[in-house]
Amino acid sequence: MTGPDPHFTTIIEPFRIKAVEPIRFTTREQRQAALEAAGYNLFGLHADDVLIDLLTDSGTGAMSSEQWAGMQRGDESYAGGRSFFRFEAAVQGITGLKQVLPTHQGRAAERILCGVALKPGDIVPNNTHFDTTRANVEAVGAVALDLPIVEARRPAAEHPFKGNMDVEALKQVLEREGVRVPLVMLTVTNNSGGGQPVSMANMRAVSAVCHEHGVPLFLDCCRYAENAYFIKLREEGYADKTPREIAREMFALVDGATMSAKKDGMANIGGFLALNDDGLAEKARNLLILSEGFPTYGGLAGYDLEALAVGLEEALEEPYLRYRLRSVEYLGERLKAADIPLVLPTGGHAIYLDAGALLPHVPGSEYPAWALSCVLYLEGGVRSVEIGSVMFGRQPDGSEKPAALELVRLAFPRRTYTQSHVDYLAEVLLHVGAMRERIRGVRMTQAPAVLRHFTARFEPAHGALVV
Ligand SMILES: Cc1ncc(COP(=O)(O)O)c(C=O)c1O
Repeated sequence: MTGPDPHFTTIIEPFRIKAVEPIRFTTREQRQAALEAAGYNLFGLHADDVLIDLLTDSGTGAMSSEQWAGMQRGDESYAGGRSFFRFEAAVQGITGLKQVLPTHQGRAAERILCGVALKPGDIVPNNTHFDTTRANVEAVGAVALDLPIVEARRPAAEHPFKGNMDVEALKQVLEREGVRVPLVMLTVTNNSGGGQPVSMANMRAVSAVCHEHGVPLFLDCCRYAENAYFIKLREEGYADKTPREIAREMFALVDGATMSAKKDGMANIGGFLALNDDGLAEKARNLLILSEGFPTYGGLAGYDLEALAVGLEEALEEPYLRYRLRSVEYLGERLKAADIPLVLPTGGHAIYLDAGALLPHVPGSEYPAWALSCVLYLEGGVRSVEIGSVMFGRQPDGSEKPAALELVRLAFPRRTYTQSHVDYLAEVLLHVGAMRERIRGVRMTQAPAVLRHFTARFEPAHGALVV
């Protein structure tokens, strides 16, 4: 049986807690002071000043007792360690991909792939590039081209697979510019587009178009297990398949994958590049040695590889996936009932508030999503992240263009918070929603040249965030 007795409908956390970590309560005055010290950038806060930390689901989850046990087995040999072979077998077992290169996290896999496969002037289509993927593509002088379906740009439009790629648009790019496209990527789930899944049908269509044009397809597979479970729930013909079977089918359509194992690897650090092309893999290994380490540890400790070998399988367990997706959906239902605009349907790992719709009186130039994320911290000690014009507004030529959407993402760490935390979140969000008219925007006072959202500094554009 994969869930509780069918007579009972409550979806419970499918684990019990063995180690606890206290969280610290602060006053609004303390949070105001912390915000000022951090230059109104939530990345600059001390984590101890945060009550519920939904900045990211990346590397922030709780490991299982099996993972901790696995870590005791970690083989720290520099070359050919046992732990690598366990990790490699886990990745090959799930993905069916031949060559497996461990990396310290996802962006290292991206950097290595971009380093060996791209050259200046190339184009990389993706449903939507994540920020590090975009930055790595652009760092080699190539163009990161987002081709989401139109529904992805409409937060309130319900679509079961809003992460899908626009296959027609891809065809046109390949027909027009094929020689400039060394690879195509699909991000599952589509993080920047709302944590939305990609359907198997869409993956199949994208794969067919790529292969007709002789272009390899790579998955950015950080949340492959969540994507597989959405397919099980929503796509015809998959209800009786296991998430593992579905994941295997997804990977069979692609030529390679980059992975941040800090997500569905259920670990605090790690990643990999997996691919079938032996020649490309050899080039990638040479680059891996240059910056990450020997190919059987790739920037990780042997014990990390053990934690990943276990975690990659645990992410595919149905009771876990059911509880995880339901927690997010539950919060989404509470917000929808209170008319708080958000990306619908809710995604796998996060709630995405539509700050553009919630704060129509805050102009794009005053970064409404950034301001909203600061107010969530100020009012409730909740840390979220802006996915809007601060993250995506600056263009490669230095000019400024408002992002297509002004979103605030509340990402759920895996196996970390319980139902009462989610109820508290609902209360904070409803409170902030009720004061929407009093929220004001921010002004950027300092920013680095790339990935500015991590370190830029801000101040309230009208004296205070809440007037
Ligand atoms: C879709 C996606 N791709 C790539 C990455 C980068 O992974 P990492 O943070 O491990 O470098 C992330 C991280 O959040 C992500 O969500």
